[in-house]
Amino acid sequence: MADHANGMFPLALREVGFSAAGLSIVRKLHLTLDAERRTVMLGPNGAGKSVTLRLMHGLLKATAGEITWGGQRIHPAAQAMVFQRPVLLRRSARANIEYALDLAGVAQAERTARAAAALDRVGLGHVAQRPARVLSGGEQQRVALARAWALAPRILFLDEPTTSLDPAASREVERIIAEIAAGGTKIVMITHHLGQARRLADDIVFMHDGCITEHTPADQFFRQPQSPEGDAFLKGELP
Ligand SMILES: Nc1ncnc2c1ncn2[C@@H]1O[C@H](COP(=O)(O)OP(=O)(O)OP(=O)(O)O)[C@@H](O)[C@H]1O
Ligand SMILES: [Mg+2]
Repeated sequence: MADHANGMFPLALREVGFSAAGLSIVRKLHLTLDAERRTVMLGPNGAGKSVTLRLMHGLLKATAGEITWGGQRIHPAAQAMVFQRPVLLRRSARANIEYALDLAGVAQAERTARAAAALDRVGLGHVAQRPARVLSGGEQQRVALARAWALAPRILFLDEPTTSLDPAASREVERIIAEIAAGGTKIVMITHHLGQARRLADDIVFMHDGCITEHTPADQFFRQPQSPEGDAFLKGELP
């Protein structure tokens, strides 16, 4: 079990590209991510962040280069993804989580307890039986996080998880992400919130125009970005 978990890292992209309909969307991506750090991806709209996250997750298949996990070319199962808008089924909050656990092969006897514990951890124990789709946007995102957390993923990908939330709900989601990370899950998150990136990131992957222009420790990135594009972005000057 531990061997399998450790075997997932580093997650490495070598010369990775993705083209669709004759268009090069991302290209020559070189990146090595280790297990410990909380990685935040920044860059302007259309830079290729979501495509890169999907390539790493395996939702998209690279059309060039290779992605390896601990040196192997197989995508391990121990990963989860949370999107800007939570994708929840038309059933109770708890049943949504139980369903994900079922798909992951967790025995029925264990599913109920694990789903309930996950909802408690995101402060939603009291709405466990409510239909997920009547919950507020912030609550739905916390259900999505609880569902990811319940799977105990080795790595969690998040694509703008707080973009449609108000500041209080955003901070609550940030707190949950920090707790998931503290439990040993690797975080790779896209955000447009620089404040959030400062609070959560250990390292920054900056993208512009389909390329990674730098991968820099967060304190250094915010003090002195290493690429002209990162610098212009922080100054609000990137076209
Ligand atoms: N399958 C596809 N076919 C054609 N074009 C695509 C495809 N997927 C993404 N694109 C284009 O690639 C570019 C990068 O998209 P991506 O969603 O990765 O950007 P992003 O950095 O996440 O931007 P945002 O901050 O707006 O979410 C966009 O111009 C998008 O329209
Ligand atoms: Mg995006």
